[in-house]
Amino acid sequence: MSTYLSNNDRFQPINLFEYEKLAKDHLSQTTLDYYSSGAWDEITLQDNRAAFERVKLRPRMLVDVSDVYDGLHLRNLTTSILGQSLQLPLLIAPMAFQCLAHPDGEVATALAAASAGVGMVLSTMATKSIEEVATACEKFPDSLRWFQLYIHKDRGLTRALVEKAYKAGYKALCLTVDAPVLGQRERDRRNEFALPPDLHLANLATISGLDISHEKGESGLFTYFAQQLNPAVTWHDLEWLQSLSPLPLVIKGILRGDDAVRAVEYGAKAIVVSNHGGRQLDGAIASLDALTEIVAAVDGKVEVVLDGGIRRGTDILKALALGAKAVLIGRPILWGLAVAGQVGVSHVISLLQDELSLAMALSGCAKLEDIDPSLVRLPRL
Ligand code: FNR
Ligand code: LAC
Repeated sequence: MSTYLSNNDRFQPINLFEYEKLAKDHLSQTTLDYYSSGAWDEITLQDNRAAFERVKLRPRMLVDVSDVYDGLHLRNLTTSILGQSLQLPLLIAPMAFQCLAHPDGEVATALAAASAGVGMVLSTMATKSIEEVATACEKFPDSLRWFQLYIHKDRGLTRALVEKAYKAGYKALCLTVDAPVLGQRERDRRNEFALPPDLHLANLATISGLDISHEKGESGLFTYFAQQLNPAVTWHDLEWLQSLSPLPLVIKGILRGDDAVRAVEYGAKAIVVSNHGGRQLDGAIASLDALTEIVAAVDGKVEVVLDGGIRRGTDILKALALGAKAVLIGRPILWGLAVAGQVGVSHVISLLQDELSLAMALSGCAKLEDIDPSLVRLPRL
């Protein structure tokens, strides 16, 4: 195992759960609450994990993996998404305010993703700008970055964001559709969550001076969404959005087959099955439980990606077996970032790579194409 962390750290995490534990020593309580919270009773948050535990693996035996497995890695986990290649079927989910975890924030995350050959989705609510992140990754010309979009009431602002993302070389627009308003995360409400004075909405402050401010008795982010984001967006707006740039549209936050079909009809090129990490509608179905219906509904017309609760290589294996082309990883990236910046994020990615390789070898899968639905047993729902 390579040494990623300084000797000052008490121990080297060997899995993503240990990163979560260690990250608690590196974050303020308010930031930890913001990062880890789900909405209301956090039932969906917990169910995202439980869903992976309910699905069981059906490994194949006596398959020769000697040519491809070197004792730690399968040699080839390369895949593609929207025609662009990835070294692993993995992208980093869009997550706001990464400078709360580490001063390098989204730049560190993007560099770790680019050097590992995985994708990164930059949030509209990032604390480093579209251009800062793109410039930092210039030495990785093939790196895959998408820009995640929240549609503000001010249409000009949305247009400006899309134009910036296109100009800076982002490869897709990832429209998040599960947040017409923000879910209620009660710890953020109690903490009156806001950004500290030295951090800003890097993409929005420059265009329009918008920021997350202190609100009495409420999360500043909740108030920001209520005041600034457009809750009237519908399917019909996708046409307008697609007219703003040639970027392909990815729709994030789909949980039903009929919505997935509509997304395809309205021009989406990929779908992210997601409940926003349990942060929006509590009681919503676990994302893994929604996957089968959505994969069947889109019938191979577009690529399907999943996020929510992925913490182990076996979780990635299960998602791929059920038809996901790749997965997005959320919170564990923030834990890596908090513990050791870019190095920590790289380590989190490599732990997942090692675990996926081992899980595949143990299941009789010598390559990604060997992963099929027969590898899993679904729970009786
Ligand atoms: C998010 N997520 C999110 N999604 C999005 O589309 N735009 C955003 O700005 C954010 N911001 C954000 C902040 C934080 C702190 C978290 C934890 C999550 C949701 C994210 O993209 C993803 O859907 C979930 O985090 C995936 O679940 P896991 O991997 O965290 O369980
Ligand atoms: C969140 C928003 C910013 O989940 O997407 O906090």
